Parts: sequence; structure tokens; C-alpha cells
Amino acid sequence: MRILSGIQPSGKLHLGNYLGMMRPAMELQEQGEAFLFIANYHALTTIHDRATLWGYTQDVALDFLACGLDPQRTAFYRQSDVPEVTELTWLLSTLAPMGLLERCHSYKDKTPRGLPASHGLFSYPVLMAADILAVQSNCVPVGRDQKQHVEVTRDLAIKFNNQFGEVFTVPDPAIRDEVAVVPGVDGQKMSKSYRNTIEIFGTAKATRKQIMRIVTDSKALEDPKDPDTCTVFALLKLLAPPNEQAEWAARYRAGGMGYGESKKALADHFEAHFAPLRAKREKLAGNPDYVEDVLQGGARRARAAARETLDRARAATGLVAP
Ligand code: ADP
Ligand code: TRP
Repeated sequence: MRILSGIQPSGKLHLGNYLGMMRPAMELQEQGEAFLFIANYHALTTIHDRATLWGYTQDVALDFLACGLDPQRTAFYRQSDVPEVTELTWLLSTLAPMGLLERCHSYKDKTPRGLPASHGLFSYPVLMAADILAVQSNCVPVGRDQKQHVEVTRDLAIKFNNQFGEVFTVPDPAIRDEVAVVPGVDGQKMSKSYRNTIEIFGTAKATRKQIMRIVTDSKALEDPKDPDTCTVFALLKLLAPPNEQAEWAARYRAGGMGYGESKKALADHFEAHFAPLRAKREKLAGNPDYVEDVLQGGARRARAAARETLDRARAATGLVAP
């Protein structure tokens, strides 16, 4: 199995990113050859400030390494260090139907929010297809919001293979139901763009504050409460051990428990999970040369795989002598 996933360095990573993509991707490291990368070409569709883009890129590198990415097993790299993907993007874009791209939410959702409709934003899914197809990945761990992009990738791979002969592996998304859409503090999908996140590497104090801000209904302390419609409980379910989840569900239903209490339990679980990772991250931050070595080593591995694919694609399309 070849596993590949990426994340844009477009803001501080949050619990939705961690549970929906980072942790599942890192668990898959054990099961095959894995490629994980920092999608800085993608982030460039929305961030046009050098210091911001570079800062977030460094952050994502530290975040992944602190959370357990094993650079021996996994090729971990910056997307822009594998420029082969941009050439592959062109080859794929000559087959990508306009209508298909017009329906993609990466473009459709962002332009109404005032983002300029650049060509890069429009062709975002084609670049993503190139990331995946370049290394012949067959397993793409992502949250549900990325499913459409993996479907576009499948369409493009099949279309290319039909037209030019078998070059690409057709990938499948790997989406885990229980973490496919992690809710944010307002109950909507947690997302950087909705300002409803719980950051994974904020300070302990700031994180607790974000957790205390989770919106709940206005039931009084003594009222019985419904765990299944409560965001605090939804998150508790993802961080607490199963026996404790059942206890909380029972306490919700019995009444006599305030949301402050379940929020406190959530904050404690969060802290128990992330405090050791935070310490590891601080140590890594003091060793930028190591982090850079990891990324460059990862890029060499990814480039070798991408080169092989690209050579085959160039030959198949008639760009080089038969
Ligand atoms: P954001 O919506 O915060 O900008 P991204 O689009 O950069 O997040 O997502 C990066 C990865 O994290 C993707 O694989 C995405 O599916 C996953 N992800 C993001 N938010 C969530 C969430 N709330 N629940 C589950 N997975 C998520
Ligand atoms: N579009 C993805 C996101 O916003 C990031 C990404 C870029 C990606 N290329 C990818 C994810 C390839 C998986 C595979 O989250």
C-alpha cells in the first residue's frame, strides 16, 4: 500500500486536522510506504505574504514531527521541493473538464467569501491530483471535505489511462466515519476559516479558554441533557476512553450536571494528550537543522517516485521520442 496525504500551511493546526487527518495518516505509516507533505503550493492560492507562508510551513513541520510522524518510515516533505508535481499538473490539466472543476468546493466555496478567483484556485484539485498520482498512491487519508478532490483525482487517472495507456494507480480515499467531521466550538465543522477551532499547539491556558467557549444549549443544571446533540460530548467521545464516555453519557441523561463540568473534563483530556507532544515540539523547535534535514530527505524520496511516474507520463503522451 502507498499512502499519501498533505495539509496546507494556511493557519494553526487544530483538533479537526489532528483527528481527521494527521492521526489516521500516522497510524497508516505502519501499514505501507507513506508520503506526507506540506502543501505550500496549495496554500499559495490564498496566502500572498512571504513571512506568513514560511512561518506556517515551519509550524506544520514541527506539528507533524511532534505528533509522531516517523521520518524513517514516512517521506515527509514540502510540496514545492518536488517540482515534478507542477509538470504533472499541466499534463493532467489538459484532460480536466472545466465543468468538473467548476463544481469543486475548493473554488465554489471560496470565491463567494471574497477570495479572488485566480487560475490557481480554480485548478487547485488538479494540483492535488498530481500530488497523489505522482507517487502512485492508492490510499489517501483525509477528512470528508476532501473526498470530492480524491474523486476528481480518480476521474483524471482513469481518463489519462484510457487515453494514453496505464500510467497511474487509481487511488481510494481513506475516511474514518467517527472523525470525518470533527465539530468546532460553535458546533459547525471545525475549520480554520470558521474561526471555531481548538488549536493543538496553543498554550494550555489558551486551549482551556477555547474549550470553555464551546456553545451549548441553555438547559439548567438540574435538567437532563442529550449527549448526542452536545458538541462537548462529541469531542469528549473522541478523546476519552470508552468506559468514561459511557459514564458521561449517563451523567448527561441523569441531570444535575452542568456543561462547565464536562468542558473541564474535556480540557483535562486534551491537556493529558497534548502536553507531552507540546514538550516534544519545543525540543524540535530548538533543532531547526534536524527538521530541515528531515524535509530534504523526504523530498529526495518523493522526487525519485515522482520522476519515475513523470517519465512514464511524458513517454505515454508523446512528449518524448517513442
Ligand atoms: P481547514 O478546514 O481548517 O482549513 P484543511 O482544509 O486545511 O482544514 O484540512 C486539512 C486536513 O484536515 C484535511 O484532510 C481535512 O479533511 C482534515 N480536516 C479539517 N477539518 C476537519 C474536521 N473538522 N474534521 C475532520 N477532518 C478535518
Ligand atoms: N487539499 C488538501 C486540504 O486542504 C491538502 C492537500 C493537497 C492534499 N494535496 C493533497 C490532501 C493530496 C491529500 C492528498 O486539506
